[in-house]
Amino acid sequence: MAIAEQTPPIGGPKRELVWSAVDEALGEALPGAIDELRWLLIQTIVSAAQRRALLGSLTVRPGQRMLDLGCGFGAATLELAALGEVQVIGLDSDRAVLAAARRIGERVGMQVGLPRGRTTFASGDVYSIPFPNGSFDLVFSRFVFQHLEHPERAANEIARVLSPGGTACIVDVDDGLSISEPPPSAAFERLASALRSSQTAKGGDRYIGRRLAGLLDRHELTPGAVIVIPQAAYHRPEPAGPERSLMLERLRSRRAEITDGGYLSIEEFDSSLAEFAGEDPLPSCDIEAHLAVFATKDAAAVHAD
Ligand SMILES: C[S@@+](CC[C@H](N)C(=O)[O-])C[C@H]1O[C@@H](n2cnc3c(N)ncnc32)[C@H](O)[C@@H]1O
Repeated sequence: MAIAEQTPPIGGPKRELVWSAVDEALGEALPGAIDELRWLLIQTIVSAAQRRALLGSLTVRPGQRMLDLGCGFGAATLELAALGEVQVIGLDSDRAVLAAARRIGERVGMQVGLPRGRTTFASGDVYSIPFPNGSFDLVFSRFVFQHLEHPERAANEIARVLSPGGTACIVDVDDGLSISEPPPSAAFERLASALRSSQTAKGGDRYIGRRLAGLLDRHELTPGAVIVIPQAAYHRPEPAGPERSLMLERLRSRRAEITDGGYLSIEEFDSSLAEFAGEDPLPSCDIEAHLAVFATKDAAAVHAD
């Protein structure tokens, strides 16, 4: 499998049908979603165009087996299934997210008439993927490595479950590629830095993007293309507009994690949040980039079971 090498195997309309069904299903799940799940859902919704552009650049062949590792709500699982006559498994360790992914998958599958079994969802850990060696022609994983305490172990597992000649496509953030002009306010920076510290303490890494190729570079797995996926937007936020309330909601949902973890005291958190909420938001130009790494498993690789 290579990127942008062949013509897409399925015409636009079917793909777009799946996309709009996914959008509808995610939108309907939003009112009932709580806390962190709600934020993950919002992230899944707002990053759809970028995700679809990347998935659309993949070349697939009929009969391929694909794994969406750390699938979250299963949007990419379903979008991969719309690329051709392929089978896709979405795997996640969070049972609540997985239950939602199954519901969304069923609804979308019925709505667009995806053949039964084209997508399935399974519970499992990236450190111990519950499938035999060589099970997949493509392993896709997006925004998962930034959360992992042992990303090298996940990379080992990806190498194991890939079939000889199979491809891994791993996508993640790198905060070193983020620029805002004007820079964020002091109150926002206090809160954002507490969030970053909490993620780092849990073993995560918001700068993982630059490390992905090195992590995938191992016996039988060879990193190829490293792609920078840039995004830039000029925002003219309204004080009570959706972007603002979204960000406030995200910060509020992490209050217990930040204060229990000691990254800010309750007073510091509440006063920073109140200060940020009370600021008149300035128009800003925000630039960020994600990195996607493609790695191919040696076609002659043999895995001992
Ligand atoms: C930020 S979400 C990304 C979801 C989806 N890939 C996307 O791009 O929208 C990270 C996902 O990875 C899952 N995850 C984190 N650690 C995991 C692990 N050790 N094993 C399996 N899934 C994991 C989380 O439950 C969550 O659904």
